[in-house]
Amino acid sequence: MAVLITGIGELTTNDAELGKLRDAAVVVDGEKIAWVGAAADAPDSDERIDVEGRAVLPGWVDSHTHLVFAGDRTTEFEARMAGKAYSAGGIAVTVEATRAASDEQLAANLRRHVDEAAKQGTTCLETKTGYGLNVEDEVRSARIATDVADEVTFLGAHLVPPGADAESYVDLVCGDMLDAVAPLVRWADVFCETGAFDEAQSGRVLKAARERGLGLRVHGNQLGEGPGVRLAVELGAASVDHCTYLSEADVAALAASDTVATLLPACDLSTRQPLAPARRLLDAGATVALASNANPGSSYTTSMAFCVTTAVLQMRMTIEEAVWSATAGGARALRRDDVGVIRPGARADLQVLEAPSVTHLAYRPGVPLTAGVWRCGRALT
Ligand code: NIG
Repeated sequence: MAVLITGIGELTTNDAELGKLRDAAVVVDGEKIAWVGAAADAPDSDERIDVEGRAVLPGWVDSHTHLVFAGDRTTEFEARMAGKAYSAGGIAVTVEATRAASDEQLAANLRRHVDEAAKQGTTCLETKTGYGLNVEDEVRSARIATDVADEVTFLGAHLVPPGADAESYVDLVCGDMLDAVAPLVRWADVFCETGAFDEAQSGRVLKAARERGLGLRVHGNQLGEGPGVRLAVELGAASVDHCTYLSEADVAALAASDTVATLLPACDLSTRQPLAPARRLLDAGATVALASNANPGSSYTTSMAFCVTTAVLQMRMTIEEAVWSATAGGARALRRDDVGVIRPGARADLQVLEAPSVTHLAYRPGVPLTAGVWRCGRALT
């Protein structure tokens, strides 16, 4: 059944030819977008929805979350707000709670957070393992994630589990753990940082994942300058995420590569770190994505709108750059061309704002502006 969405005051398509349209309409047929153009030229359809001048844009593509978890880290957050620094070690608290939770509890928690994100306009979401850190719990995390998320990443190399020896743990990740998890997922990731995995260990994990046909992602340069960005670029990772502390060489390497710099402003704020240098990256020509990094430790939000608002108000991105980075940029970080864009043939993932233009996302910070969401052609709100 074809549905005509008309009366669109401002349509952000992210398509190079279509650009931004005024007084526009979109036809959704089944799971796909069938037509995009001026409202006056719209074809007949089975159903007609008039959005009465509101802005429409692609659904958010949240390319970085950690939502297969149990437990709560409010105490750690309170300590951080009182001046204690964020450290990778907090991950162990969530590992303990996640291992103790049933499959049903983990699945329900994941579903709850994905639904929360969808209500705010997120229509494509990546999530990771990484709170299991043994073969059994990493496999079940991956299984649970694949039932719910669009994209799943293996992050067995999130932290050396308490009591384990780092080199033996990397052997396990590169051997039995990858053997068991690789058939279930598309991506592998490593937390390349002081307190987690060093350059050599990270390189071993990424190469072992690549040998099994997985695409690569890297957590890098979150807590200080380091080898994460360089390694990601050298190994052709789709994305290096965080990028809070970048040297000039890191920026130049990203600009000359296909590796997306995925920035996580809610995490930078929640860990009281500087905001990632979006302007330096963009001015150098790097591709930038914005993602929520939703997780119970460093960034407990599913709000992509908050990330866009922060990117504009505090990181000196234009609203167009920020919206692109949170939609098409996320799609680029996931190597997808069917989401993050409104064009015929793309997945029908759209959001309607309670506003005449995307500028209101920054102009009205903190105001919930989601008026409607379609995912795969189905209205969610
Ligand atoms: O992306 N950097 C590593 N992992 C997460 C934090 C996870 C946690 O603290 O539980 C991140 O910030």
